[in-house]
Amino acid sequence: MDTTNEVKVQEEYIEKLRKRNEGKNLKYNILTMGCQLNENDSEKLCGMIEKIGYSKTDSVKEADIALFNTCCVRENAEDKLFGKLGELKRLKEEKGLIIAIGGCMMQEKHITDKIKESYPFVDILFGTHTLYKFPEDLYRATEEKRKIEDIIDVDGEIYEGLPIKRDSKIKASVTIMNGCNNFCTYCIVPYVRGRERSRSPRSIIEEVKHLAKEGYKEITLLGQNVNSYLKVEKEKNIYFSEYEGVNSFATLLRAINKIDGIERIRFVSPHPKDFTDDVIEAISDCEKVCKLIHLPLQSGNTKVLKEMNRKYSKEQYLDLVDKMKAKIPNVTLSTDIIVGFPGETDEEFEDTLDVVRKVKFEQVYMFIYSRRVGTPGDKMENQVPEEIKHKRFDKLKELVESEIEEKNKKYVGTIQKVLVEGESKNNISMLTGRTDSNKVVIFEGDKNLIGKMVMLKIVSEHMWYLRGELNG
Ligand code: SAH
Ligand code: SF4
Ligand code: F3S
Repeated sequence: MDTTNEVKVQEEYIEKLRKRNEGKNLKYNILTMGCQLNENDSEKLCGMIEKIGYSKTDSVKEADIALFNTCCVRENAEDKLFGKLGELKRLKEEKGLIIAIGGCMMQEKHITDKIKESYPFVDILFGTHTLYKFPEDLYRATEEKRKIEDIIDVDGEIYEGLPIKRDSKIKASVTIMNGCNNFCTYCIVPYVRGRERSRSPRSIIEEVKHLAKEGYKEITLLGQNVNSYLKVEKEKNIYFSEYEGVNSFATLLRAINKIDGIERIRFVSPHPKDFTDDVIEAISDCEKVCKLIHLPLQSGNTKVLKEMNRKYSKEQYLDLVDKMKAKIPNVTLSTDIIVGFPGETDEEFEDTLDVVRKVKFEQVYMFIYSRRVGTPGDKMENQVPEEIKHKRFDKLKELVESEIEEKNKKYVGTIQKVLVEGESKNNISMLTGRTDSNKVVIFEGDKNLIGKMVMLKIVSEHMWYLRGELNG
């Protein structure tokens, strides 16, 4: 669907607000929770609000608007939001701070009900499908002085051409699809982000070309299931026009690989069940595609995987890893793992440890299973007691850390190609960058190297970073 008109309407609201705000030196503060997709959404929110005439501040005390972009994939984000809202009440009373909350959590009715009841001073609630309407929501909240609730349960269209304010000048995220159709039984995402829908090849390619012109070096393609890009469209005969040969995820990688100026391409997250051979071949052939593949495992036990509705077995996952290792030179892997899914026994958990030992991941993101209202997992009767979940988590963590230590040791003495991202946060006389395998490397060097690729000799390893020296 053509959304140009909707975007135009929002541009008009931006203009009206900008005129109203001129010369007022207004500020906004934003807190983003959740995944890279949410961070990318926040960049769009920042783009809109800066055009409206607000500038960013890190201190909510200085702000005229406090914005929250929420996540609900696990429970801890809820506690964090409610804690912050409690703190903001005073600022609201003292100086009329405008409070706007958006994102995934707002698609959950029990949460918005709680906010309306316990934090009635919040001005704007908006969902994942109405983010593009933020200028209109803000206009109505401030001009008409009323509470706004702009949340719909209809899959939002993909709006092209919204302003965007990116966090980095070197690395950029590009969302290639929205939503998810997989319904893993633990996961809330399909309920709050709606059904899978892909952006058009043309809009993605044009965005990446534009980023290349602006000097960006690294592109991360984002989606909940990136390797099923355009799959739903093909299955349902939804018309899309090919652009530069792009009609699948593999062809998208190949097309982006050809764009001059872009030096690195990453993507998160692919799903193991959709990891077809053409994607493996594209990764292997395309010199700019990083050889670190994030391949979410979730559990190493076939029965648990079935209960999770992941659609692969332990053996299929390991076979896929073997195939990648055989076909992609220098491939490295990272993963996501959940411990304590309902019904998981100690023995079944051992299978997860077994896969970790076999694959030798570069990085493992570990999560304790968190019950999410509305998901099948929440209704399962055999929930694992908290204490056991924590024990398993600690055991997994210990294994992962010992393996990462081993892996890190292997880097020492090697030469690594590193994209220099900026000054090190902990030591501004040092620079920081990342290897192809996404390891942080700290080294001494001139600031004009920022944004460039350098060859570094790794001289020592630490748990979360490597130390390097310029090589030659
Ligand atoms: N689409 C991505 C993941 C999105 S959520 C994928 O399929 O891999 C990011 C990670 O959060 C998931 O991979 C999973 O490991 C974790 N996660 C999701 N729901 C969870 C829950 N209810 N409890 C604990 N961890 C969860
Ligand atoms: Fe959640 Fe599964 Fe979809 Fe990932 S693939 S977002 S884990 S339902
Ligand atoms: Fe969280 Fe929504 Fe991402 S629930 S993980 S912010 S898609």
